[in-house]
Amino acid sequence: MSATVAPTAQPTPTPAGALALRGLTVGFGGAPVLHGVDIELRPGEVVALLGANGAGKTTLLRALAGLVPAASGDILLDGFDLAPLRTEQRARRGIALVPDGQSVVAELTVEENLRLGALWRHRGAARDRAVAAIYELFEPLARRRTSDGHQLSGGERQMLALGRALIAEPIVLALDEPSLGLAPLVVAQLMGTLRDAAESRGLTVLLAEQNVTSALSIADRGVVLDLGRVVADAPAAQLATDSALRHAYLGF
Ligand SMILES: Nc1ncnc2c1ncn2[C@@H]1O[C@H](COP(=O)(O)OP(=O)(O)OP(=O)(O)O)[C@@H](O)[C@H]1O
Ligand SMILES: [Mg+2]
Repeated sequence: MSATVAPTAQPTPTPAGALALRGLTVGFGGAPVLHGVDIELRPGEVVALLGANGAGKTTLLRALAGLVPAASGDILLDGFDLAPLRTEQRARRGIALVPDGQSVVAELTVEENLRLGALWRHRGAARDRAVAAIYELFEPLARRRTSDGHQLSGGERQMLALGRALIAEPIVLALDEPSLGLAPLVVAQLMGTLRDAAESRGLTVLLAEQNVTSALSIADRGVVLDLGRVVADAPAAQLATDSALRHAYLGF
């Protein structure tokens, strides 16, 4: 006697956050800026993306977010290829980019910036709760909720940029030099918050940084780019003590 099994509807699996860049090549008309880059991130892993000026860090993050097209290669989130998708479709699938420089809308208040970040993810009371959770994470922002973006300090602006990305509940958070221009104490606080957010939310984090020491202090692994190629991919503690590598590619 054979049992017949009724087909059951399979729920769509929730993405866990495994990110794989395979053979990623990006150019701007001329010679490629990234040459067949392979990087794998496990779910919940914090990876520091390191390299000198012009190594290709920003280009890699922009290609991940869909802001520059890849000439070839795959961008796989839990096995699903994001490469054909537009920027906003990638955002809906859970990719968030905190770009370098000003990603805060200076004319809007802190509260309005956060609500903008939450726009397509949360509605009504859920949006209020999401905004309140960001204020809990970044207390200085709660005190500045009615201030315009241009009235904020550099550190407050970075907190707001990070808060605006987190409120959309991303699966993969990519950050481009979040420590730029910040005082060491503020950098340390920002890195601590980032690590906490990664651990408490299971976020997969790709952190491009010139501030190698700070980035490696919270990263599980580091990937070093040189002229658009991966020249090292190793545990953060190992990279931090590899003086030959630091001299060759990181300038200290
Ligand atoms: N829009 C563009 N058009 C042409 N070339 C570009 C463009 N954007 C970046 N490049 C080139 O790509 C290379 C990598 O630049 P990218 O900004 O990705 O480096 P980076 O590692 O982020 O550097 P930095 O540490 O200075 O921010 C550089 O040679 C740069 O001149
Ligand atoms: Mg850059």
